[in-house]
Amino acid sequence: MIWITFLLVQAAILFFILAKRSRSNTDPPLDSGIIPWLGHALEFGKDPAKFINRMKKKHGDIFTVRVAGRYVTILLDPHSYDEVIKDPLSLDFTRYAQVLMDRIFQLRLPGHKPAKAKDVMKKHFQGPHLALLNSTMRRQLASLLKAETAQNRMDWKVDGLFSFAYSLLFRAGYLTLFGGEQNNNGTDPADVYHEYQKFEGLLIKMARGTLKSEEKRTTQAARQRLSEFLAPAGLCKAPGSGPWVQDYRQLLQAEGADGEMQRKALLMQLWATQGNVGPAAFWLLGFLLTNPEALAAVREEFSRVSQIETSQESSVRTPVFDSALEETLRLTAAPFLTREVVKEKTLHMADGQEYLLRKGDRVCLFPFISPQMDPEIHQEPQTFKYDRFLNKDGSQKRDFYKGGKKLKYYTMPWGAGTNGCVGKQFAIDTIRQFVYLVFSHYELELCEPDAEMPGVDASRYGFGMLQPAGDLIIQYKLKL
Ligand code: HEM
Repeated sequence: MIWITFLLVQAAILFFILAKRSRSNTDPPLDSGIIPWLGHALEFGKDPAKFINRMKKKHGDIFTVRVAGRYVTILLDPHSYDEVIKDPLSLDFTRYAQVLMDRIFQLRLPGHKPAKAKDVMKKHFQGPHLALLNSTMRRQLASLLKAETAQNRMDWKVDGLFSFAYSLLFRAGYLTLFGGEQNNNGTDPADVYHEYQKFEGLLIKMARGTLKSEEKRTTQAARQRLSEFLAPAGLCKAPGSGPWVQDYRQLLQAEGADGEMQRKALLMQLWATQGNVGPAAFWLLGFLLTNPEALAAVREEFSRVSQIETSQESSVRTPVFDSALEETLRLTAAPFLTREVVKEKTLHMADGQEYLLRKGDRVCLFPFISPQMDPEIHQEPQTFKYDRFLNKDGSQKRDFYKGGKKLKYYTMPWGAGTNGCVGKQFAIDTIRQFVYLVFSHYELELCEPDAEMPGVDASRYGFGMLQPAGDLIIQYKLKL
């Protein structure tokens, strides 16, 4: 009897592994791949952008692929993106986010209300409170930049641009948000950065569940160290612990999260708040240093707007810088906007086609392919043009077209709709402040004047800001 049950269970498992779903005429084109259960997982994981481009050529702007047992519908027509972004009831943001939180941070918060945590974030990162964060960030950046060249002030210092930008912004962000202005929490932010890099370097593998055993040990140890660093953040009521982290910690406590889960949640927030800003600043500085005309234009604009050093960063107008940043993000921000289908939904494409999205599947937008790198929307999409988002009169350019129709989404580094980026303005203000301070306090140049931008680490497509596969070597010293 036991054997019969065993065989039946095995047969059932085999059936689910091998069974291919068949396409009904209401489904998007279906491509299950030839490997049972895994489907296209291997090709997808190696270089998601290349894989999706190949599928786009084969099937068009919408198709469903099988990836490690899941069916994922990829939508690539920006005219139809609102159908996904504006239906949070059928297409849920939090479920897939929770899967990732568990895999990467081992974070499970049963009583958690994501909407409340988001309100706390909005309170501090948007509106009138943002000025306080900006001014703390500015002070932290300025003092770290000063300390960077404290010894041998007149000598050139050599560094990789990626580590220079990421490390400075991470440390300033950590002090501003988690340590507070006085850094009462007492840890050396350089130690936190060092440990964070060990953890972050394996993030993609954690998200995909493909860590080797040695790597599992590395991530576990880094997670543990980072949790210890973050343990005091937000606990003390005295000024010195960042105001947002205090509120966030209070919310976690009220929701019944124990100490360990609170620390894991803080690590998740460390990644959410720091993981994209440093890489974005690296790409921007890199594009400027390798494009003398763009560099001169941004420097010239900065020399005219000395108010950047006031606390009202958001109100200073820097259209040339804004365009250069937007262009940088067009080329290097490559998140998947993933939603889980929790209620069957008919998706109405802008071209009049209709498709049924099945409950339990995932839907994924990949704006990097379109609109961002779409040659019909942006001419020579691979080329950095700092003034791509400027009109002739110097105002912001917003008119871009596809199929003769004006686009609502002509670049989408911040997502959009209900789950669009809460920290967008803070991130923009921070990067602008950073570039401004670097240019005004340092002489900074490429060690090799003809150096080119490094390529991208292709495994990172889908996870927010891309990271380089190499680095640009720079030298810098304090201005006399
Ligand atoms: C260059 C920097 C950044 C980029 C490119 C970026 C990009 C994004 C994108 C694309 C999303 C949408 C994800 C989706 O729809 O699936 C998002 C969401 C989010 N971002 Fe950012 N982000 C950046 C910096 C920040 C910072 C500094 C913060 C800190 C306040 C932040 C907080 C958030 C939060 C909380 C969400 C989730 C919103 C929700 O739950 O609905 N981001 N970000």
